[in-house]
Amino acid sequence: MTSARIHEGLEGVLVARTALSSVEGERGRLTVRGHAIESLVSEVPFEAMVGLLLEGALPTASRLRELQAELGSARLRAHARLAPLGPTVRSADVMRELATGLSLLPREATAVDALGMAAVATAGWLRAERGEEHLPPQPELPHAHDLLRLAHGASPTEGAVRLLDAYLVTVAEHGFNASTFAARVTASTGADLASAVVSGVVTLSGPLHGGAPGPVLDMLDAVSSPERAADYVRAELAAGRRIMGMGHRVYRVRDPRAFVLERALSAYGSGEGASLRLALARAVEHAAESELARKYPGRALRANVEFYTALLLEALAVPRAAFTAIFACARVAGYAAHYAEQRREGRLIRPSALYVGPEAKAPASGPSCSTVGETATSDLVEFTAALPRPVG
Ligand code: COA
Repeated sequence: MTSARIHEGLEGVLVARTALSSVEGERGRLTVRGHAIESLVSEVPFEAMVGLLLEGALPTASRLRELQAELGSARLRAHARLAPLGPTVRSADVMRELATGLSLLPREATAVDALGMAAVATAGWLRAERGEEHLPPQPELPHAHDLLRLAHGASPTEGAVRLLDAYLVTVAEHGFNASTFAARVTASTGADLASAVVSGVVTLSGPLHGGAPGPVLDMLDAVSSPERAADYVRAELAAGRRIMGMGHRVYRVRDPRAFVLERALSAYGSGEGASLRLALARAVEHAAESELARKYPGRALRANVEFYTALLLEALAVPRAAFTAIFACARVAGYAAHYAEQRREGRLIRPSALYVGPEAKAPASGPSCSTVGETATSDLVEFTAALPRPVG
């Protein structure tokens, strides 16, 4: 027996220093390079968040214009790479499509290239789902504006662009979450940036991480009216199912991103239907909060970012199947910033595991080393003799 302590899920284990963001679980605070998330969301466009993450400070007005133009050129290059492939790279799953698009980037691709590809691959997948051709990007447009235009095939309203910008800023970076950690592990091996971003994107696809918002809407549809919320949640918990959009590995209070997204959504408005949907969501959230508190009295399980992501992306007419990909369009900025930090400061990430498999079998007669060698050699000779002979 060993006294080694195993850190299942690495919860609470410090594995690196980072200057990118701080996630304070008890206080419900998210700080990105010294800026509280509340001071960024709805205040700066996504391009500014990209500058903050990749360059260390919020960009000046002229740098912001340059970043906007650089992202526009990256979208154009991504379109030039993807459009000629037509349906040949088409995957039924948008996250696979996104990973495929990112894999087509050259080894020397930059963070901006990856962001351009993420937007174009996601929007292209959405259009292909409807049997439509990829639209060419308009490089002079802000990133959020062009992403909506490419996805929907029409110019979005100013309010819609503001709402998507608020969302992209909110989710661009969030500490050492599972997908960022995956990207950092890949970076730690010396792999190129696009490979690290692909690692992040495929890890994000799981329902316990970035895949929850689609199921949140399925839940709202199933509940259908606020009065049914408590019964629904009770029945789900009794059946041993998780309530999507609730709970978090780090936050012990309501996720601060749930607050900023809920606020951005309220400011967006957009009619009676949207208000009813928001009222339904709040009823489900409150029911889930109190039922979870009853079931897990020692553990605060409150709304996480995915809960209001679901409503926000629905308000922007993004189909559920693409929710996680839109999340990725923002989080690629975080992966790229972590990639740079890991390459600059980190070392190969290589933890250990406690072996609990069977012991190696000792030979029955306690042979000498040379006998073991002979046995191994004769087994190998028999094995190779049985192989088909190469032709030509
Ligand atoms: N619904 C029902 N039960 C939940 C729950 C939820 N949303 N979140 C946690 N629990 C339960 C767990 O099953 C666990 O129960 P157990 O001790 O009987 O196994 C208990 O509460 C404590 O879980 P915790 O340790 O806090 O969860 P975690 O850190 O392993 O997982 C999540 C965190 C996010 C994976 C988890 O809360 C979850 O699955 N949430 C729903 C999916 C989701 O919204 N994902 C997006 C995250 S941003």
